[in-house]
Amino acid sequence: MINLTDVSKGFGATTLFEKVNMTFSPGRRYGLTGPNGAGKSTFMRILTGDEEADSGRIGLPDKVGILRQDQHAFDEHTVMDTVVQGNQRLWAVNQEKEVLYAKGDQLTEADGERLAELEMIVAEEDGYMAEVNAGELLAGLGIKDQLHYSTMGELPASIKVRALLAQALFGEPQVLLLDEPTNHLDLDCIDWLKRFLCRYQGSLIVISHDRHFLNEVCTHIADIDYETIIPYPGNYDDMVEAKMAVRGRVEADQEQRLEKINQLNDFIQRFRAGSRASQVKSRERQVTKLTPTELKKSNIQKPFIRFKVEQQPGKDVVRIEEASLAFPERGPHEPAITVLKNAGLHIGRDERIAIVGPSGSGKTALLNLVAGQLAPNSGSVTLGHNVNFGFYAQDNFGAIEPGSSLLEWLHNKRPAESQETVRGCLGQMLFGREECFKKTDHLSGGERARLLFSELMLLQHNLLFLDEPTNHLDLESISALGEGLAAFKGTCIVATHNQDLISAFATRIWALTPKGMVDYPGDYDSFRGKHGSLR
Ligand SMILES: Nc1ncnc2c1ncn2[C@@H]1O[C@H](COP(=O)(O)OP(=O)(O)OP(=O)(O)O)[C@@H](O)[C@H]1O
Ligand SMILES: [Mg+2]
Repeated sequence: MINLTDVSKGFGATTLFEKVNMTFSPGRRYGLTGPNGAGKSTFMRILTGDEEADSGRIGLPDKVGILRQDQHAFDEHTVMDTVVQGNQRLWAVNQEKEVLYAKGDQLTEADGERLAELEMIVAEEDGYMAEVNAGELLAGLGIKDQLHYSTMGELPASIKVRALLAQALFGEPQVLLLDEPTNHLDLDCIDWLKRFLCRYQGSLIVISHDRHFLNEVCTHIADIDYETIIPYPGNYDDMVEAKMAVRGRVEADQEQRLEKINQLNDFIQRFRAGSRASQVKSRERQVTKLTPTELKKSNIQKPFIRFKVEQQPGKDVVRIEEASLAFPERGPHEPAITVLKNAGLHIGRDERIAIVGPSGSGKTALLNLVAGQLAPNSGSVTLGHNVNFGFYAQDNFGAIEPGSSLLEWLHNKRPAESQETVRGCLGQMLFGREECFKKTDHLSGGERARLLFSELMLLQHNLLFLDEPTNHLDLESISALGEGLAAFKGTCIVATHNQDLISAFATRIWALTPKGMVDYPGDYDSFRGKHGSLR
């Protein structure tokens, strides 16, 4: 159970939420929702103690499982150690044991007693089964045995995130706090996670921008909006319906008041100078009473994404000839895959390609190949005349240096451009007049993505590569991205698992299957009609 009393938080002039009083009960699964930058991760960080609230009190049980958005925190540890650290008490005891055992012959009597105590705690925490239990979680998340003793830093993002998720789930926490757990997961893993969470007995709070996921997992929603957090029973769709209904009622009430006020004011104007002084007075009093309370604005907003093309390329944008790309088993986490086999592919102007396929099937490798950043095993890849491309990478953690304002950062990407244009690109991505002076240091996941899209808009490439661009984006932004790509007059190649996005923009599908790539010259719906589901 989690208890919040009068919890408030803001940064500078911005209030995220004020005086929140809420209880998160065991057996309930809460989705924490709100648009990018609403304060979801901040709220989680307050619960985990990584950040302080401005005021208020928080009560939490001892054992809390946490998945943070930072993927790099355990880079030095092995996968197994990372998972076991999910149980802090067990981990600390094991560390202490090791120090004592290292003393060998020098062990004192007191050390011996301490060791006995430690063994008790290990037994209480089911420590002898720790590696077995951790192994089961890892297996459920599709991480093979051979990988369990690799170092986190060596692993690709998709595996790292799953190990961190296993860490959060490890050790039967009473409370589970998960910030965007489905980013980087493929459909099988998402299914496994859904099943795990639906069996979970403690209190769950999960942040996700995936509506389908929230609908299947959540019994309740806590929505950050109107500078507070409002609990709703039911899943995500139930919340949206309830929220619209309430908002509708409040707005209707507001309209009625305004109408009434207008009528009264009319009367007051007409008879002010006349003989009905007392009636005028009483109506004036009514007007004061009826004056509408200022409605707090909802913070849901939709960005406007349009990628312009500065210079058209030649007719051939990319030409791939007799190209093969395959990876032998490169260690346990990357089994052998064939991405292309003697493929001849031509990409023309104005083509919009979606690369689809399960995680580990080579989507990122294929993007890198087409972009000329990875050489094929045989054959050739040639970019056409005047092609100028932009690349949105999947792991963009290091792409934005801290220490400048958003405006300075973006302007530096193209110093010759006028400040007005640069601000325009920021504005389209919802960084308005004041927001563009915000520092690059503390951006939320979605804000980081929005800034990188501003950069792509500013640079006006004629070829775009986007690798899983919807991670971190809220629903409004995903739909804006779909519209932006659909309206794009250049060529784009997008690796994504987001089916709504694919349907919105793609005119050609590259599906990576175990038998090699299928090049389908049509949109996603017709592709599915022909080839069935992707799995
Ligand atoms: N230390 C900080 N100093 C100043 N502003 C901050 C700080 N940390 C976060 N913010 C701002 O507070 C707001 C909320 O950030 P937060 O990361 O909680 O958003 P979020 O709801 O998790 O968004 P997303 O969906 O994009 O992950 C953002 O506008 C962010 O820029
Ligand atoms: Mg966040």
